[in-house]
Amino acid sequence: MTQLFINIKELIQVRDKFVKKVSGKEMKILPTIKGAFLIIKDGLIFDYGKMSDLLESTFDDKIDCTGKMILPTWCDSHTHIVFAGNREQEFVDRINGLSYEEIANNGGGILNSAKKLQETSEEDLYIQSAKRLEEVIILGTGAIEIKSGYGLTVEAELKMLRVIKKLKENYDIPIKATFLGAHAIPNKFKNNKEGYINLIINEMLPKIAAEDLADFIDVFCEVGYFSVDETDKILSAGKKYGLIPKVHVNQFNSIDGIEISIKHKALSVDHLEVLSDTDLKVLISAETMPVALPSCSYFLSIPYTPARKIIDAGLPLTLATDYNPGSTPSGNMNFVVATACIKMKMTPEEAINAATINGAFAMNLENKVGSITKGKFANFMITKEIPSFGFIPYSFGNNLIETVYLKGKKASN
Ligand code: NIG
Ligand code: FE
Repeated sequence: MTQLFINIKELIQVRDKFVKKVSGKEMKILPTIKGAFLIIKDGLIFDYGKMSDLLESTFDDKIDCTGKMILPTWCDSHTHIVFAGNREQEFVDRINGLSYEEIANNGGGILNSAKKLQETSEEDLYIQSAKRLEEVIILGTGAIEIKSGYGLTVEAELKMLRVIKKLKENYDIPIKATFLGAHAIPNKFKNNKEGYINLIINEMLPKIAAEDLADFIDVFCEVGYFSVDETDKILSAGKKYGLIPKVHVNQFNSIDGIEISIKHKALSVDHLEVLSDTDLKVLISAETMPVALPSCSYFLSIPYTPARKIIDAGLPLTLATDYNPGSTPSGNMNFVVATACIKMKMTPEEAINAATINGAFAMNLENKVGSITKGKFANFMITKEIPSFGFIPYSFGNNLIETVYLKGKKASN
């Protein structure tokens, strides 16, 4: 099956050579071809170039993209889309003056989601999660990471990870699974955190590994959740099963979580709303990808990750949604890209690099997605008629994505 897309106003994020990630000043450069064609074959990107260089040939399908742009699909490297129900009541409680921390301390927050998830069947959880996945695909997401962490018992964590596995099997979108048993301390272990950590290490991890349910391991390294030493212990245990760390750090406090993550060669460190100069120095010494989650800052009214400080220090940066019921009930990467430009002062070029190629790196998927490169999956989106790619963040809150393709197949209209 060969498909030809012609008269593309601008083909965005074209990388002839394989690029792992882009950092610092490179992030300002977004390679494009104006007046382009794109050929896809058997679900992969086969060829592209300027319309004037297109040779006559026969194709199974020919699609005219006059006035429209093509971009690789968004790579959302941090989500919690497998959850049960919602936490709309906590949203209203915050409007009425309670803080996110107060709500969590009153038994709300992550423990509230865990209770709901424990009471939900695997089938129902799958149906709710698949609906969210389909919604974000229509918005242009073409590769996604999904975490566990709303189970907090052996059975419920396995249930979440099995749902992720089923999503992997049933959808064309590449999915990576992350085990986040260390997301909060369940009530049963309120006065015995060590007991819960032992449960994670001695019961959850071996079972997850036996069923091959996770690619990565995550810990919520934060005051009131898991300390640096506990994070160290959990990441070390995960490593024995080949799980690569991706860690929640520096959301509310800077407590040397970045340093311990880097010691464990974390693929990414995520959140970073509170970032000290020492943290920045530590990041500079590493291959680890910093990940910002601006929709979370927006929803909770907390500081935005200092993107300028990070990029101007020569580092790479990734943008992801953090889609979850408590701190970010939105999986819209277009909004993330817009908010990064508006609130974090990233240029459209930087934000698109952060949401595509760097997001792919943050999931170990840079060989497959994140750019228009021959041999990568034909995961791309066609925009509506727009004057420039900067129009995507500029028109914040509008959906300018018309059609999404995953592995060469139309995933939306
Ligand atoms: O990434 N920070 C920790 N975990 C999630 C939110 C958890 C929740 O409120 O349900 C996050 O923001
Ligand atoms: Fe998160």
